[in-house]
Amino acid sequence: MQFSYSNPTNIYFGQSQIAAIAQAIPIDSKVLVIYGGGSIKKNGVYDQVASALSGHQWQEFSGVEPNPSVETLDKAVDIVKKNKVDYLLAVGGGSVIDGSKYIAAASHYEGDGWDILIGKHQVTSAVPLGAVLTLPATGSESNKAAVVTKKSTQDKLSFLSSYVQPKFAVLDPDAMKTLPQRQLVNGLIDAWIHVCEQYLTKPTNAMVQDGFAEALLKNLKTLGNDFDHHDSDTWRANLMWNANQALNGLIGVGVAQDWATHMIGHELTALYGVDHAHSLAIIQPSLLRNQIECKRAKLEQMGKNVFGLQQSADLAEQTINYIEDFYHSLNMPTQLTEYGDNKAVAIDTILHQLKSHNMLTLGENQSITLIEVEHILQQALA
Ligand code: NZQ
Ligand code: ZN
Repeated sequence: MQFSYSNPTNIYFGQSQIAAIAQAIPIDSKVLVIYGGGSIKKNGVYDQVASALSGHQWQEFSGVEPNPSVETLDKAVDIVKKNKVDYLLAVGGGSVIDGSKYIAAASHYEGDGWDILIGKHQVTSAVPLGAVLTLPATGSESNKAAVVTKKSTQDKLSFLSSYVQPKFAVLDPDAMKTLPQRQLVNGLIDAWIHVCEQYLTKPTNAMVQDGFAEALLKNLKTLGNDFDHHDSDTWRANLMWNANQALNGLIGVGVAQDWATHMIGHELTALYGVDHAHSLAIIQPSLLRNQIECKRAKLEQMGKNVFGLQQSADLAEQTINYIEDFYHSLNMPTQLTEYGDNKAVAIDTILHQLKSHNMLTLGENQSITLIEVEHILQQALA
């Protein structure tokens, strides 16, 4: 184990915490409040933000779409540059927060902001950013990552930079009350797969990372099994905190990480508009079956410690079946059906996009080549 770790995001967790942004953002800042399609106007979050910012100078930018597009975000970059905005407040789910991270970095760059996504520009500074989370799923509120789409070319790419990690994040579970069930399930499964990406690799004997990952998986399983009671303060608070902890960097320190499910999943979203969590549930079971020999020991550990299964020759296979059954119990499909009418063409298109994004060898062992991806897609597409 060897790592350096810090998570500098100040978390304000709990009901009524939106008021804390009044102190969290320096009073002399020129603030741009960034949000999505308007859900925050229906649940009181917008009003609470406006009231907390009553002593600040602020303006707003709305219309950041799910899977935020650079085409939309660049309009906000123009506003930031023109009006000398010096603090961003993202109010929404992962898309709004990721989009705001892009705006933060692109506003401090003179070239085309997309250069950040293709690795042509390394971020060296950004407008400071805070977040008010309304959808627990991605962990974006206290991590360094952002995923942005270029609609015109159907490219969905990510970048990592500590400069765009939010200075603070408000996690008020009451903001989740208006979430449709589909988004709640999406959040739960996304968080679950974030843990898997950092845990279902090879044995590391990292007791803290493994133990915490297993605790998160057991909690998410409990919340999924108890989905009928999702309309409760306790259920909401637990999902919000579990999803945050699943991808705030802690369980991934000093251990192997996979992320192949995410990389392939991003292509499905960019090409076919599949929800992020759906794309993961579609790819992951097939990917685990394809990579079962490298992952056997960890799958067995998960089978015992998360699902309470007994040691047996086919324990790893059983664990994958349990994972898949868990998704089905939440009505989450594990095969892609919306890809047009020609499976071979769809697979070729996905492989072509992965190749153009230089995703030639994926996974903790770099053992998922395009040939393996093709095998995975044969199973994952109906
Ligand atoms: O736009 P509004 O009107 O706010 O509606 C949103 C959107 O339509 C709605 N919503 C959010 N909060 C709500 C609400 N509706 C009612 N009540 C509320 N309280 O939910 C819809 C989906 O929102 P979105 O932000 O797209 O969802 P999510 O948080 O799942 O974010 C997905 C994006 O995050 C990226 C994904 O690729 C995808 O682009 N990811 C980011 C990661 C990161 N930064 O670390 C990691 C993840 O693996 C993921 O890749
Ligand atoms: Zn994810």
